[in-house]
Amino acid sequence: MNLQLDAQGRLRHLLTTEGLPGELVTQILDRAEAFISDRHRAVRKLPLLRGRTVVNLFFEPSTRTRTTFELAAKRLSADVLNLQMESSSKAKGEDDLDTLFTLQAMQVDMFVIRHRENGAAANFARHVAPHVAVLNAGDGTNAHPTQALLDAFTIRRHKPDLARLKVAIVGDVLHSRVAYSNIHCLKALGVRDIRVVAPPALMLRDPEALGVRAFHDLKPGLKDADVVMALRLQHERMHEKKIDSLESYHAAYGLTKQSLAPAAHDAIILHPGPINRDVEIATDVAYGERSVILEQVTNGIAVRMAVMAMIVGNRAPGAAV
Ligand code: CP
Repeated sequence: MNLQLDAQGRLRHLLTTEGLPGELVTQILDRAEAFISDRHRAVRKLPLLRGRTVVNLFFEPSTRTRTTFELAAKRLSADVLNLQMESSSKAKGEDDLDTLFTLQAMQVDMFVIRHRENGAAANFARHVAPHVAVLNAGDGTNAHPTQALLDAFTIRRHKPDLARLKVAIVGDVLHSRVAYSNIHCLKALGVRDIRVVAPPALMLRDPEALGVRAFHDLKPGLKDADVVMALRLQHERMHEKKIDSLESYHAAYGLTKQSLAPAAHDAIILHPGPINRDVEIATDVAYGERSVILEQVTNGIAVRMAVMAMIVGNRAPGAAV
């Protein structure tokens, strides 16, 4: 059973980009384009989620994802609750599912969940009432689907010929839910040339199974790349020493003006954020002319609006589930 799609193949929850049909991904990106236009209109609020309640339930820290989900929900006129986990009854030992059921009893329509455990969002989706949706805002090293969708949206705006793109994902791919979700999303959209570049200790477990090429050296990995995505070193998920030093890592894998030389001259640079300045990316590259990192943040609002509007639209009275 596909937990995130209904019998008609429409979005019911958003848990992962793995297995999402390319047509559906394109629909989400197209819908997000409409919301980007709406930013420039005088009336910034749309009534699509009026009377609905969205709860942000972040068991892990976040700046971008939590705030852009909140803004997206508010721009669609939803009521939004942000539960502060550190001051919630979780601090008294309440089980995560009991927190979910308690909030659901307040007639919540949608949960946005970030959790340190792989599969946590899917587990919540299995337990919510049929009219309630779950959006995965990042679970462990498993998936971060809205990040991948906003990355694809940003890439498509700059480089619309997706089938011809060369995309290099550089850094701590081993611990990166962003990398996994991006690979599935970009492949669904028809991107054929995806490379991952990382030291052996931080490489994907099975790049071939994911249909990507693995490189341990930056120079061949970046050759002619149109899109270069840097990933954060995820120290919080490393339970043993994975790199010798931040300096040696930066020297071998850091994106700098010099190390980017093999990439295409008009390559765009992405990073999901937060960045470790001058570790995986030099500060002058992160804020340089080829960087689209802050565009990614802006686009995150439109993409999250699109996902929420589509799910609520699919559940509107009369819409078959
Ligand atoms: N990209 C991302 O998920 O950032 P936050 O952790 O700040 O939400």
